[in-house]
Amino acid sequence: MAENLMHALQYSSYGGGAAGLKHVEVPIPTPSQGEVLLKLEATSLNPIDWKIQKGMVRPFLPRKFPHIPATDVAGEVLKVGPGVTNYKAGDKVVGMLNHSTGGGLAEFAVIKESLTVARPPEVSAAEGAGLPVAGLTAHQALTQSAGVKLDGSGQQVNLLITAASGGVGQYAVQLAKLGNTHVTATCGARNMDLVKSLGADEVLDYKTPDGAALKSPSGRKYDAVIHCATVIPWSTFDPNLSANGKVIDITPGPSAFLTFAMKKLTFSKKQLVPLLLIPKKENLEYVVNLVKEGKLKTIIDSKYPLSKAEEAWAKSIDGHATEVMDSSSKRL
Ligand SMILES: NC(=O)c1ccc[n+]([C@@H]2O[C@H](COP(=O)([O-])OP(=O)(O)OC[C@H]3O[C@@H](n4cnc5c(N)ncnc54)[C@H](OP(=O)(O)O)[C@@H]3O)[C@@H](O)[C@H]2O)c1
Repeated sequence: MAENLMHALQYSSYGGGAAGLKHVEVPIPTPSQGEVLLKLEATSLNPIDWKIQKGMVRPFLPRKFPHIPATDVAGEVLKVGPGVTNYKAGDKVVGMLNHSTGGGLAEFAVIKESLTVARPPEVSAAEGAGLPVAGLTAHQALTQSAGVKLDGSGQQVNLLITAASGGVGQYAVQLAKLGNTHVTATCGARNMDLVKSLGADEVLDYKTPDGAALKSPSGRKYDAVIHCATVIPWSTFDPNLSANGKVIDITPGPSAFLTFAMKKLTFSKKQLVPLLLIPKKENLEYVVNLVKEGKLKTIIDSKYPLSKAEEAWAKSIDGHATEVMDSSSKRL
C-alpha cells in the first residue's frame, strides 16, 4: 500500500447492510486546527452507526457519501494539528468522532482534541473504545435526566433499566450501582446472570409475562426508567411508575414524542423524557477513570479485525449482541 493510503470500509449510498460496506484504500486524513491524527487500535460499533446507513437520520447524516462509519475509537497519536496543546505523538487516547463525518472503520482517523481523552495503561484499547457513545449515554441518562448522584449521596432512587444486556444498559447498571439506587433490569434469559453480576438487584426476562409487564419482583414502583429497549408503550410503564416517575427514552419514536408533549401539556407528574446524547469530554474522562479504577467494565461481545468488520456490522444490525463489537484495526 502506498505510504499515504490507508485501508478503510465505506458505503456510498443508504441501505445495503453489511454488503453495502466496501473495502477501499483512501488517503490518510490530515489533522486540521484542533485535530489529532490517530493510528486506530480499536473501534466499537453502536446501533446508530448502521441506523445512519439505513437512512434513519436522513437527510442530516451522513454529511456526504462515500462515508466511513463508526465513531468510538481508541488509538495512538501520530501527529497533531495546529493549536493542539494536550497531546503529542505516541500518546494513547480514547475519543469520539463526529457522527456526520464518521471515520472509525479505518486504520487512521482524525479526531477533535475536544472529544479526546488520555487512555491510561490499565484500560485496554478495546475497553476504552466501548465507552464513548454507550458509556456517555448511560452517564447522561442517570446523572442529568434521572438525577442520580454517582458518589452515593442522595435519597435512594428505584430504577428500571430496560435492555440492560446492551451496550448502554450494561454501563447504566454499573454506573447506577455507584449511586444510592435499587436497580431492576430487563434482558433476555441468556443474559440474566451477566446483568446480575454487573450489580442489578433484580433481573426480569423480557419474554416472560412479568418481564413484558416490567413488574418489579419486589413490588417497587420506579422513580426513573432508563429505557434502552425499543417501543414499549406508555401504558406499560405507567402502572409501574412512582408518583413523580420519569421514563428516560433513549430511542424515542413518534409515539414517545407525542407522550412527551401530552405529559408536559397536562402538567402530569409522571413524565417521558426523550434523550439525545450530548458528548462531553469531562464525562468521558470520568468513565475512563472508572474503568482504570476497576469500578466499571466494558463487556465485549466479540472482536474482529478490520478485514472482517462487515461481520461485526451484521452482528450489530441483528440486535442480539451482548455489548459492543470491537473491530481491532490492523494493517492488512
Ligand atoms: N439517544 C441517544 O443519543 C442514544 C445513544 C446511544 C444509543 N441509543 C439507542 O439506544 C438503543 C440501545 O443501544 P445499545 O447500544 O444498548 O444497543 P445494543 O447493544 O444493540 O442492545 C442489544 C441488547 O438489547 C437486548 N434487548 C433487545 N430488545 C429488548 C427488550 N425489549 N427488552 C430487554 N432487552 C432487549 C438484546 O437482548 P436479546 O439478544 O436477548 O434480545 C441485546 O442484548 C439503540 O436503539 C441505540 O440506537 C440512543
